[in-house]
Amino acid sequence: MILGNTENQKFTGDINDNYSTPKEAWELVIRHIDTTDKKVWCPFYNEGLAEKLLKELSVECIHNDKDFFEEEPYFDYIIDNPPYGIKQKIFQRCIKLNKPFALLVPLDTLERKYMNKLFKSKDLSLIIPNKRYNFINTDKKTTPPFKTIWVCYGFNLDKQIIFEE
Ligand SMILES: C[S@@+](CC[C@H](N)C(=O)[O-])C[C@H]1O[C@@H](n2cnc3c(N)ncnc32)[C@H](O)[C@@H]1O
Repeated sequence: MILGNTENQKFTGDINDNYSTPKEAWELVIRHIDTTDKKVWCPFYNEGLAEKLLKELSVECIHNDKDFFEEEPYFDYIIDNPPYGIKQKIFQRCIKLNKPFALLVPLDTLERKYMNKLFKSKDLSLIIPNKRYNFINTDKKTTPPFKTIWVCYGFNLDKQIIFEE
């Protein structure tokens, strides 16, 4: 779903959310979980690149151009780069769904009051990439100027904070 440039915009959102995630970001998170025979739900579509990249990593992915708040397919994990303008609501729904999830969000998301409220009594884990990613936007040819990290819940990772080598 490309936002901000269509007449029949299905979801509210910010045109600045329309970036696709590079393969190296998917590789990093997938490395830490067992995706064998698991269904990974990537609810945020943009141009649909996530499915192709995850397929190249042998991950079966549910990736439809539908409203995350209306859809509930059968899945084992949610793993995705959400629209940042509504990430609080997205974290809230992920918690309600009560399955493991990993969301790629700007590092400063951690200092938000809602993160404290939502996660203070829950075990969060962080996977911290060793670089800023170049996100893909075919129109803009620029990438957001901030660092992103994987915020994970329910993955039983070896450590609570994993720094990429
Ligand atoms: C940062 S992009 C990520 C795209 C893709 N998941 C990836 O990682 O390559 C987030 C996308 O979520 C879409 N989006 C916004 N609100 C949504 C909603 N309620 N349900 C599903 N997708 C939504 C936006 O259109 C945007 O393209």
